[in-house]
Amino acid sequence: MEQLRQLVEKYQQEVEQLQIQTAEELENFRIKFLGSKSIMKDLFLEMKGVANEQKKDAGQLLNSLKIKAEDKFAELAHLRSDRKSSLQAPQDWTLPVSGKTGSRHPLTIVGNEINSIFGKIGFSVAEAREIEDDWHNFSALNIAADHPARDMQDTFFVQQNPDIVLRTHTSSVQVRLMENSKPPIRSIMPGRVYRNETISARAHCFFHQVEGLYIDKKVSFVDLKQTLYFFVTQFFGKEVKIRFRPSYFPFTEPSAEMDISCFICGGSGCSVCKQSGWVEILGCGMVHPQVLINCGIDPEAHSGFAFGMGIERLTMLKYQIKDLRLFSENDQRFVQQFANETITS
Ligand code: DAH
Repeated sequence: MEQLRQLVEKYQQEVEQLQIQTAEELENFRIKFLGSKSIMKDLFLEMKGVANEQKKDAGQLLNSLKIKAEDKFAELAHLRSDRKSSLQAPQDWTLPVSGKTGSRHPLTIVGNEINSIFGKIGFSVAEAREIEDDWHNFSALNIAADHPARDMQDTFFVQQNPDIVLRTHTSSVQVRLMENSKPPIRSIMPGRVYRNETISARAHCFFHQVEGLYIDKKVSFVDLKQTLYFFVTQFFGKEVKIRFRPSYFPFTEPSAEMDISCFICGGSGCSVCKQSGWVEILGCGMVHPQVLINCGIDPEAHSGFAFGMGIERLTMLKYQIKDLRLFSENDQRFVQQFANETITS
């Protein structure tokens, strides 16, 4: 072991002190210390003679020498003759790009468009964590522990801890926003959500939602309708009609689901709207007074509306994409189709 230590020290000094200035010197250095017939090989052979209990130390010793040599070689890489040609070749930055240019993912395009449309009417963008606690994902939103609504969303728990979940909806961000700021609040909250669903053309274990929240004095259902109408006409076009159907969410009262007239067939019936002329796009309602209380807002003084919609769903409708899995497979043939898409509104 002692013999080996002395040898390694000698080589370490050599690595440190060697003055290398030319490609040739560097190549000689590489052959000696890093090549297939380098001194490292001999040193590893020497290890055979080291007592078993010292083998680990010996291995570390040799490794430190190897790392030193590798570092030095990397530091001097600019001297390498095989690098020189490319370094010295004049670069013509005006040459056309060879191959394909990148393209934005359709979900990014649609996400940006949603942000832009709501931005025009004063909504800011807020984000929060994807790993949530029970309070923000469920309890504060009026979804009690034994509430059947919890079954609506197949939850992923983190490390079998019933208190920590991968958020099942972006409604959790509403809670954080209300807890941390004072009305008026006017925000949209895009983000990824997770549900324990079997992956198919129509369902995935993760997808994206955008939540909306508007809290102020005297906010009414009329404001909700107008805001959503503005959004869909900007997003799908002026001709689109909307209709509200009564629904139920624990965190809103009254609650509704909103449909748009099918922009493919104009309402006469097709496969996208399943011959009904209408397509559901979101859930919404007036924020439940209990939710306001849970988040420290006085329901006597303030009221508000909220809505939540799936970004994949909007994207599938807009571009007539039939399989949800395409969004996460990163197949270039799919993504490249959006290379020329820009925000229209
Ligand atoms: N969080 C609901 C879901 O994931 C969507 C939703 C419905 C959000 C109504 C809302 C709302 O803010 O008011 O299914």
